Amino acid sequence: MIFTEKIIEIKNVSKHYKMGDEVIVALDDVSLDIEQGEVCLILGPSGSGKSTLLNLIAGLEKPTKGSIKIKGALISKMNERKLAKFRQQYIGFVFQSYNLISTLTALENVTLPLIFSKVPKRVRSKQAFKILKEVGLAKRWRHKPAQMSGGQQQRVSIARAFVNNPAVVFADEPTGNLDTKTSEVMMGLMLKMAKEHNQTVIIVSHDLDTIKFAGKIIRIRDGNVESIEINENAYQVPEAAEEEKDTEEITGVTEAEETNEIEEVAGGKS
Ligand SMILES: Nc1ncnc2c1ncn2[C@@H]1O[C@H](COP(=O)(O)OP(=O)(O)OP(=O)(O)O)[C@@H](O)[C@H]1O
Ligand SMILES: [Mg+2]
Repeated sequence: MIFTEKIIEIKNVSKHYKMGDEVIVALDDVSLDIEQGEVCLILGPSGSGKSTLLNLIAGLEKPTKGSIKIKGALISKMNERKLAKFRQQYIGFVFQSYNLISTLTALENVTLPLIFSKVPKRVRSKQAFKILKEVGLAKRWRHKPAQMSGGQQQRVSIARAFVNNPAVVFADEPTGNLDTKTSEVMMGLMLKMAKEHNQTVIIVSHDLDTIKFAGKIIRIRDGNVESIEINENAYQVPEAAEEEKDTEEITGVTEAEETNEIEEVAGGKS
């Protein structure tokens, strides 16, 4: 794969936390670049600074020292208002705990980022439904999080991360709560979607099984980059999530009916 654009530039970044008299050095002078379309895996022992690095790159926290650019924009210096807008436009998140809103259906959860970025109502539900279909959940759009399995909830959160077509998708332990088989399907799904739109994916994981999916493996230890390894044999993505067959009994409707209904929702109430 040929990468053309440096999408993330991290220069001499440190993050210190003050705890009373003690200063905790979570990251110590980290520099690295990530190209558009790369799938990067951040690996390292507990407490090594993985989440800190991810949060800094995603603009959720500010570095103590150094600079971070995404698509040429200096996010380490942006104020909160600008950052929020930047995140809406360019960034998607997948969390270990899914972070779905329990009172909303799968479709409504996926629609949320589109509401925030002011996509017209007419388009929103259609766009959200299309991506739910891509993750194999066309028949679950009406289900609330508690009415879905862990793997299905994670698929909803993947759909939500990608629905806005973000430039970069961040995933902190995205397979942490899933069994091995479901994890592989999830990773495959994320990569498939990212590949289709040349999106950059940055994953933090403890799960060594995820290594094979990543084109770049960044190992962190004690707040430092220990090594960066390019994995030429990555992107051998397994078949993505299959549609489930047991859905009729649960929802009591056929996919055709649901599709009509969702189109009514998308076209009608707007
Ligand atoms: N808000 C904070 N205040 C003080 N110290 C913190 C804070 N956040 C993280 N740390 C410290 O910074 C270090 C790095 O934490 P970080 O969460 O990045 O680790 P991690 O590599 O993600 O670990 P894990 O694999 O357990 O999630 C740890 O020593 C942690 O205790
Ligand atoms: Mg962490």
